[in-house]
Amino acid sequence: MKILVTGGAGFIGSNFILYWIKNHPEDEIINFDALTYAGNLENLKSIEDNPNYKFVKGNIAQSNEVGPVMSGVDIVVHFAAESHVDRSILEPSSFILTNIVGTQVLLDAALKNNVKRFHHISTDEVFGELDLNDTNKFNERTNYNPRSPYSATKAGSDHLVRAYHFTYGLPITITNCSNNYGPYQFPEKFIPLAITNVIEGKKIPVYGDGLYIRDWLYVEDHVRAIEKVLERGKVGKTYLIGGMTELYPNIEIAKKIVRLLGKDESFIEFVKDRLGHDRRYDVDWSKTKEELGWEPQHNFDDWLKKTVEWYKENESWWKKVKSGEYKKYYKTQYEDGSR
Ligand code: NAD
Ligand code: TYD
Repeated sequence: MKILVTGGAGFIGSNFILYWIKNHPEDEIINFDALTYAGNLENLKSIEDNPNYKFVKGNIAQSNEVGPVMSGVDIVVHFAAESHVDRSILEPSSFILTNIVGTQVLLDAALKNNVKRFHHISTDEVFGELDLNDTNKFNERTNYNPRSPYSATKAGSDHLVRAYHFTYGLPITITNCSNNYGPYQFPEKFIPLAITNVIEGKKIPVYGDGLYIRDWLYVEDHVRAIEKVLERGKVGKTYLIGGMTELYPNIEIAKKIVRLLGKDESFIEFVKDRLGHDRRYDVDWSKTKEELGWEPQHNFDDWLKKTVEWYKENESWWKKVKSGEYKKYYKTQYEDGSR
């Protein structure tokens, strides 16, 4: 089987490739990635000489770059995206180009090359926000109601993927997954930003009142869910993926992280809130379990601890990343007061 992975140099994409090569050594993987600020080939160093793995640098929004890599591909697993909400608030245009136009360019090429499956990786953020005080969860029937430029572009891409199935018969599947954490996550996202800041002696910036809730999922659980969907998912269907419903507000997570690093709460500071900040996400993945036999296996406390250990042991990985462009972004987002 020849698998084209887009965005395979990013956080979830690289975890997916490492897992796939280990568990399906007979398959051929092409990693197609533009290497934006978020792409890092160091994540894949351990497999770079594997004869069944190949990296091709390219932009999913450029049809002349996508065309050649799509030839002979059986399965597309589409991770490539601009993925950070705060950056989408500062500068939405690249989100529209990559997440919407890029997805359409890939869909056209997949159709032209008769791929057997186009699997699109999406997010629970397309459903909007839940109240803090009720117990509703997102499910397969929840209406789309995206509220940030990021989630609006992911929603647009989901609609396009489904439209290519209904209109042209492209064999697609979609997963809408909750917030991931784990190794190789870019330190702009909350958990790795918090861990690496404390290691560097800086504070954890907690937005607003800190009472925002995400449905955290360890990245390997997400990767296993994608594997199940590729193996057993029904063409045309959307599967929801989420964590073990240990719904900690951000401030609690910040407190857990400082404790794990042997520091006190003076390492936490409340800062200006994110614009349009979604209050709560929570995913009902029971249908996915019923149909595919998948469920999350990594609980939050143990795997947050292991994630903290990973960042402690891999300082050279994130220190390189937290330089150059990252410093400019951090200044605009957290220090200038301009947002
Ligand atoms: P990431 O930002 O870590 O990685 C994105 C990757 O895509 C990078 O390697 C980058 O170089 C590449 N890329 C960006 N624009 C590109 C372009 N125009 N052409 C080719 N490659 C390009 O993202 P992630 O956190 O690994 O997320 C991967 C996917 O999963 C995204 O589609 C995201 O929406 C989705 N998702 C993420 C989460 C999460 O918690 N991180 C949760 C649910 C869904
Ligand atoms: P993030 O990791 O950016 O994921 P998303 O916005 O896609 O859910 O943020 C997770 C939560 O943490 C979210 O409620 C915003 C909050 N947050 C902070 O409080 N401080 C920060 O510096 C960041 C990046 C996020």
